[in-house]
Amino acid sequence: MNKNIRKAAGDGAISGDAVISANATILADAAISCKGLWKSFASKAETLDVLKGVDMELPTGSSCSIVGASGSGKSTFLSILGGIERLDKGELRVGGYELHRLSEKELPVFRTKVIGFVFQFHYLLKDFSALENVALPAYMAGLGRKKAWEKAEQLLIKVGLKERLNHFPSELSGGERQRAAIARALVNDPRVILADEPTGNLDAQNADTVSELLFELPALTGTSLVLATHDRELAQKASVRFALIQGSLQTS
Ligand SMILES: Nc1ncnc2c1ncn2[C@@H]1O[C@H](COP(=O)(O)OP(=O)(O)OP(=O)(O)O)[C@@H](O)[C@H]1O
Ligand SMILES: [Mg+2]
Repeated sequence: MNKNIRKAAGDGAISGDAVISANATILADAAISCKGLWKSFASKAETLDVLKGVDMELPTGSSCSIVGASGSGKSTFLSILGGIERLDKGELRVGGYELHRLSEKELPVFRTKVIGFVFQFHYLLKDFSALENVALPAYMAGLGRKKAWEKAEQLLIKVGLKERLNHFPSELSGGERQRAAIARALVNDPRVILADEPTGNLDAQNADTVSELLFELPALTGTSLVLATHDRELAQKASVRFALIQGSLQTS
């Protein structure tokens, strides 16, 4: 195995038997359910209340969009849903887990096994091929090498990159990089995909291809999708549409 792959897999690896403890009950219900979610950022000068009692319910296998002005809290909300940021107050269930009850130790496992992230920038590892970029998170999550690579190949074929498996990120177009990033987000069979301005860095044609692919995911893989965007036309494609206004989520 390539020494860089071993190094990447060894650094911060989540082993296959890493678990979320038994007190984190898995609940078979909506993909996302939150009540009274509150998040503030405190600095020396002031406390900024970004989310002020957000309520939301997203059925499993459906897609939703969140629009809102710059600074309205879209990325903050997605970071909380994905277990990157902690909520200050409220109740939050994502993919069956009660996030407000998960410990710091459990959160990385939750992020790896329950959530797939797609950002505005692809964040592919530049020294690894498309295939390795997609396979690594599965390998790090404990899937054997052969299975991880086979799964990565299947996913890259699914997103239309059959001819680009061994290309490095610098050898892919912007749209191709973003499709590889989507394949990577899918590799651990997440229950929820969180996409933050996923087409923000693409031209119109690539943006269309990538958004079509994202909105196909619930039907294709059974995952649920939350997409934050400034683009109202893109937001219209989601089955449930929200706007984040003055710290609360409204249906739009
Ligand atoms: N770690 C942090 N510390 C302090 N303030 C923060 C932090 N993260 C975000 N904020 C503030 O919270 C507010 C919401 O930010 P956020 O990035 O969630 O907005 P957004 O809706 O995603 O904006 P954009 O559309 O520009 O991406 C902003 O005013 C921002 O400055
Ligand atoms: Mg943002």
